Amino acid sequence: MENWQELEGKLFMRTIKRLPVTLVRGKGARVWDTEGKEYLDFVGGWAVNSLGHCHPVVVKALAEQAKTLIQVSNQFYTIPQVQLAKLLVDNSCLNRVFFCNSGAEANEGAMKLARRYGKLHLNGAYEIITTYGSFHGRTLATVAATGQDKFQQPYIPLPDGFINVDYDSIEAIKAATTGRTCGVMVEPIQGEGGVNVPHDKYLKEIRAWCNQKGILFILDEIQTGIGRIGSLFGYEQYGVEPDIMTLAKGLGSGVPIAVFLAKERASVFAPGEHGSTYGGNPLVCAAGLATLKFIIDNDIPGKVKKLGQYFIAGLEKLKAKFGFIVEIRGRGLLLALKFTDDIAQDVVLACLKEGLLVNAVKPNTLRFIPPLIIVEKDIDEALNILEKVLARRL
Ligand SMILES: Cc1ncc(COP(=O)(O)O)c(C=O)c1O
Repeated sequence: MENWQELEGKLFMRTIKRLPVTLVRGKGARVWDTEGKEYLDFVGGWAVNSLGHCHPVVVKALAEQAKTLIQVSNQFYTIPQVQLAKLLVDNSCLNRVFFCNSGAEANEGAMKLARRYGKLHLNGAYEIITTYGSFHGRTLATVAATGQDKFQQPYIPLPDGFINVDYDSIEAIKAATTGRTCGVMVEPIQGEGGVNVPHDKYLKEIRAWCNQKGILFILDEIQTGIGRIGSLFGYEQYGVEPDIMTLAKGLGSGVPIAVFLAKERASVFAPGEHGSTYGGNPLVCAAGLATLKFIIDNDIPGKVKKLGQYFIAGLEKLKAKFGFIVEIRGRGLLLALKFTDDIAQDVVLACLKEGLLVNAVKPNTLRFIPPLIIVEKDIDEALNILEKVLARRL
């Protein structure tokens, strides 16, 4: 058999330190490696596999669409694209969509839309206020929006027009707002930044401020959207409506699809002002449609809410037992466990050996972002493995 890991080391740019496992197959919340070893997957492709691996409705939709029509240029109408747009609009507070291929591309498009709005309606205002600890993507503009030094430093100078301020502070947003500001962009819960949950009124305060100033409120729901935190979209839990929202990850259950949506008044692109070759092609939209339909029809967000509470109760027991667990954070199935010390990567490796995939979102913090279709028994299994691993540190 080929040594895939050795070959990878020779061929790839060194952008990621992979875990020593080559995965070949997946089903539901389980994956298998080249040796046939089974893992319970609580990483879910980084919060992507909303319906788990190879869910029958997604596989069927992809197979049928692959036999029918995979890609045409966006100069033509295609049916899965319009069907998915309708489902998104019917189930959200937004009116218009633009499909693309990744979270970064969705945010890039959302920010271009806000700039366009600024040019047309706010005397050329172009600055977007974003927050420290956020993660919005890896393109130059989304890196400038991402308020984390480690992502920005290697690429300075970054594009102009992005002001990073403290998260969870409306005062910081107010202080940064000037006549040049066209929008504010935040995540309802910061995912990659460590699963940071702001106080309950934060989004409402931003909404009120954006209304007062006539600027756009952009929500990056790439990680929190599509049921992940126990509602179809995160904003529903906070009593606000954004002007623009971005989605990706869970929307395709593994197939790369992203979208940004806008209220009618913020939807200001003219023909030719934005575009994407693959964006929303029939193949990915068929997967998105099957995924979203399943999530809505089966009240997956409601189930996620209950599963999240069940999981948190189990994590609380671990916290009571192990003094080095200091905090449990998150909502629904976007949860994190913070330790006193930087042991998260050691815990990840130990869990891997025991057949559980988890993610070290920070050196001292584990993150759990499993498929949304897990059941309580899966959570019990994950908690048992975690307990066994953590007990070695007593
Ligand atoms: C909130 C948020 N925005 C944007 C992105 C970037 O998405 P992508 O990696 O698909 O470009 C991520 C990815 O983790 C994310 O969590």
